Amino acid sequence: MCGIVGYTGAKLAAPVLLEGLRRLEYRGYDSAGICVGRDGALTIVKRTGKIKDLRGAVPDLPEGSYGIGHTRWATHGGVSDANAHPHADCTGKITIVHNGIIENYASLKEKLLGEDHVFRSETDSEVIAHLVESVYDGDLERAVKEALALLKGTYGIVVMHSEVPGKIVGARNGSPLVLGIGEGEMFLASDVTAMMAYTKQVVYVEDGEVVTVDPGGFRTSDLKDNSITKNVEQIGWELEEIEKNGFASFMEKEISEQPESILRAMRGRLDAEQATGHLGGLNLSSKELLEIERVKIAAAGTSYHAGMVGAYLLEAMARIPAYAELASEVRYRNPIVEPQTLHFVVSQSGETADTLFAMRELKRKGATVLGICNVVGSTIARETDGGVYIHSGPEIAVASTKAFTSQITVFYVFALLMARMRNMSFEEGSDLVRDLDAVPRLVAEILEDKATIQALARKYSWAKDFLFMGRGINYPVALEGALKLKEISYIHAEGYSAAEIKHGPIALINERTPSLFLIPDDRLRDKIISNMKEVKARSGKVIAVCVRGDDEVAGIADDVILVPKVHELVYPFLMVVPLQLFAYYCALDLGRDVDQPRNLAKSVTVE
Ligand code: G6P
Repeated sequence: MCGIVGYTGAKLAAPVLLEGLRRLEYRGYDSAGICVGRDGALTIVKRTGKIKDLRGAVPDLPEGSYGIGHTRWATHGGVSDANAHPHADCTGKITIVHNGIIENYASLKEKLLGEDHVFRSETDSEVIAHLVESVYDGDLERAVKEALALLKGTYGIVVMHSEVPGKIVGARNGSPLVLGIGEGEMFLASDVTAMMAYTKQVVYVEDGEVVTVDPGGFRTSDLKDNSITKNVEQIGWELEEIEKNGFASFMEKEISEQPESILRAMRGRLDAEQATGHLGGLNLSSKELLEIERVKIAAAGTSYHAGMVGAYLLEAMARIPAYAELASEVRYRNPIVEPQTLHFVVSQSGETADTLFAMRELKRKGATVLGICNVVGSTIARETDGGVYIHSGPEIAVASTKAFTSQITVFYVFALLMARMRNMSFEEGSDLVRDLDAVPRLVAEILEDKATIQALARKYSWAKDFLFMGRGINYPVALEGALKLKEISYIHAEGYSAAEIKHGPIALINERTPSLFLIPDDRLRDKIISNMKEVKARSGKVIAVCVRGDDEVAGIADDVILVPKVHELVYPFLMVVPLQLFAYYCALDLGRDVDQPRNLAKSVTVE
């Protein structure tokens, strides 16, 4: 979703801003722009399309050593050059970029129009520039604070004024903003990846805080002008982790990294001697863990599917009632917070607005909420009562892959821990430790067989519709497979419990609607085979993901993808990888932009 950068220092600002925006491309955007200040004048360059289009269109970049930049993902107003950020006030002396949504912009705009302000875009964001203009009296920081006090909604903003060269004011309420500290230079961005090439010293700006920077330093304060002391933190990621490193795309790289990323998610957390799991950051005593009677999980997109697998694992291993729910629904359902219920929110980015707001609503009602996040220092990671980092390293491709397998790894460890404190024997726990321990190697084996899946993708990428069927713990994997396919190939795909097919989806089956069945050798295998036969009987083409040596399934399906035989709770790790690859290769075959699919954003920071 929208990205923000700001720079002030001794370098030429434009290349720094464009490099920062390039690093933010992965978040998804439809237009981009920068504003650079020099000799008391500001120059804005902005247009629809990609950063390279912006660069190509303006070979002579504006000179100047401070500036702000933005990648826009349209919310208010269509995709147009005029609606791209930065936005200026009437005089052109004040420019702003904004992430988030200003909910009361219409009434503010009406008032400003009545005061003869001239608007040049249809965006909600532009009102901020005019509000700052209307209260500015020589002190930019104070004017920004006065303007912000009038806003309702969410924002991450940076603002500059031609009369105060080198100074940039940033503020945050609901949309991330990070300050980067360099040697004689300062950076502001919505995401640390934008500044990692220059500095690893960062300060996370919190909601309600304003930060004012110039090349020599920064000041943080609240809207009432109380100074706030901030901790300087170190970014834990390496620059090479946000490079493609020889892979054709970030998605291919991230799928391939899974043996290592799953290992990182379990490293130091499996205890073979005690046949249990250890998770340091839960901030709950053994007594508190024992008192938990129910687990509720809230998340969005792929993280929601991981939450569904997590709920299954908790019920199966620890016999604790658990269910996952869409975070966007939790918030507005006036959720019931019961005693002895532990809540989880799951989010790769730690910034998803739906998940963040669900977490705040649950906490407001007294819930204990733990987070399962990837991005260290993200808002959800900071605001939860405790939690677990999945340590996947940066996930750049919009379609989430390695985060999913790491999230379910963490749920597996948590379920094991809870189970061993309750019902589970040492022997059973030992088996489950051994089974998870084997997963990175087994995933690596599946990845070695990429060519088979690529060939299948070529064979089926003509389809306009696809059905994915799974049952039990693999039902959410079917949902995830369908989500991956639609996200990056734009083939319409739906995931179903295979048992549900007769309740509706079977009406869609014909020779032009293929189905993909997940068929592990578990208790439900025979029932799924019957569902597959029902599809075959109606001329439906079938790909089956099944266990090596399952000749019966191979004899019925048109094509098979083989996975090793494992404990039934381990199949999601192995079944999801071929589905990620299948979606990836279908998208490649159709010439799609795999890393930045149309209309999608990596981190959805608006509701
Ligand atoms: C967006 C992304 C998805 C992701 C979802 C939740 O929709 O495109 O890939 O699964 O957000 O993101 P989160 O960062 O909260 O896991």
